Order: sequence, then C-alpha cells, then structure tokens
Amino acid sequence: MITVKNIRKAFKDLVVLDGIDLEVKRGEVVAIIGPSGSGKSTLLRCLNLLERPDQGLIEIGEAKLNAEKFTRKEAHRLRQQTAMVFQNYNLFKNKTALQNITEALIVAQHKSRDEAKRIGMDILKQVGLEHKADSYPITMSGGQQQRIGIARALAVNPHAILLDEPTSALDPELVTGVLQVIKSIAEKQTTMIIVTHEMAFAKEVADKVIFMADGHIVEQGTPEELFDHPKNERTKRFIKQVGEPAELI
Ligand SMILES: Nc1ncnc2c1ncn2[C@@H]1O[C@H](COP(=O)(O)OP(=O)(O)OP(=O)(O)O)[C@@H](O)[C@H]1O
Ligand SMILES: [Mg+2]
Repeated sequence: MITVKNIRKAFKDLVVLDGIDLEVKRGEVVAIIGPSGSGKSTLLRCLNLLERPDQGLIEIGEAKLNAEKFTRKEAHRLRQQTAMVFQNYNLFKNKTALQNITEALIVAQHKSRDEAKRIGMDILKQVGLEHKADSYPITMSGGQQQRIGIARALAVNPHAILLDEPTSALDPELVTGVLQVIKSIAEKQTTMIIVTHEMAFAKEVADKVIFMADGHIVEQGTPEELFDHPKNERTKRFIKQVGEPAELI
C-alpha cells in the first residue's frame, strides 16, 4: 500500500529526514511519535509533495515516484492517493461544512453536485455532524471543525489518510470526540498515518508505532513492543518524558 525508501530532505544545511524507510500495509494504522523538530510533519508532507523530498522513492496505492526526477503527471497522481488532516483544520472559511467536503468531489473528481452532496451528507453523518451541513467553520467548535476536516479527507476516498497532530490544537474537552471519530474510521480498515502526542490513543488504535528522532526512525514495533518494552535508550527516555500511555479513551 505505502512503501517509502530512503527519503531525504534538508532545509539548506539542516538535514530533517535522513534516509527514512517506511512500509504501511492496506488497512493498517501507523502512529508516528517523537520529539518536536524530529521531522514528523516533514515526513507526512513529503508523502503528498507538500514538501519536495531531495531523494527517495515513494509508492502509494497506484502511484510511484522517484523524488529526484518526476513529471507533473506523476506528482498529481501521487497527491491523489492521500488526503491530509491538519492540526489547524485548514477549512475553507467562506464555505459551509458540506461545501468544504463536496468541493474536491466536484472540482477534482468531477462528480455531479447531487452525487457530491449525497456523499457529503453520508460522511457528515459518520462524523456526527449532519446537523451542521450548512454551518460555516467560524460558527463551529474546534472539535467540530476538525471532524469536518476528517470528513473532507474521507470524502475523496483516498488510499490513505495522513493526519498531522489532529487534536493538538483542541481544548482538552474536545479531544476525545475527535479521537473517537478517528478510531471509528480506523476500525473500518482505513489506511492511516497519524502523527500524535496522544500516547494512549496511539497505543489503543495503532497497529504499528514509529518513534522518530533527528530525522531517523529510531525504533518501530507494535504498541506493546514500543511502549511496554522499548529497546532503544532514546525511545525509553522519550516515553518516560511524555508519560506512559495511561487510560484508554
Ligand atoms: N519550510 C521549512 N524551512 C526551514 N526549516 C524547516 C521548514 N519546515 C520544517 N523545518 C525544520 O525542520 C525540522 C523538522 O520540522 P518538522 O515540522 O518536520 O518537525 P516535527 O517533528 O513535526 O515537530 P513538531 O512535533 O514540533 O510538530 C525543524 O527543525 C524545523 O524547524
Ligand atoms: Mg509537526
């Protein structure tokens, strides 16, 4: 489903991704954890070319791309394989919840307005926000806006959803609702890569957890392996620092 080989990315002299290999199987949920500045967001952004990697091979769904040399068509194809959920929602402020979801269906996937609306309403129901279809983002809570962000990603039926700290901008009381939506999507065998600081969530929902530091994957394994029996000293220190996953959501 997703195969990434030897991704490298530097911003001038600063090497941010130093040879990342990654494999994600269909339906798998992968959580990426690690200290601030370790390259987690950059890695996600390289997967859909929001950031251009200097080197590496990326294969997602039906797309394959060599970062050193690719055509616009290949880039377009790769971008179509994933949808991104951002920390700050990035909704269109001048569009309603439903319009935020249907936009890509109409413009990029050339679906009719009726078909797009039908899909949009169905997905709004899945995230529990059918009644907000005609509301504008500014009138919604952060948690509701993020659920629209997730609905928008789901709507285009991508091969994988990439989520970059989807709950870290939310007030604590809104986090659980959003995590529950993500969990329900995970249970439907949606392939996901999620960068998160929510250790309990990662432990409960992820099939695989990756610990990144300084542009490297330091350690990866099942949640039990990584959280309960970390092998690497840096992993141990990080988990101790952020606190072990406590109660489940
Ligand atoms: N566009 C950019 N130009 C220059 N440096 C950048 C750019 N984007 C990221 N960086 C640098 O790359 C490094 C990795 O950033 P990245 O955002 O990937 O980290 P992160 O692991 O997502 O951190 P956080 O947990 O704080 O979100 C940081 O040192 C950051 O300052
Ligand atoms: Mg980040």
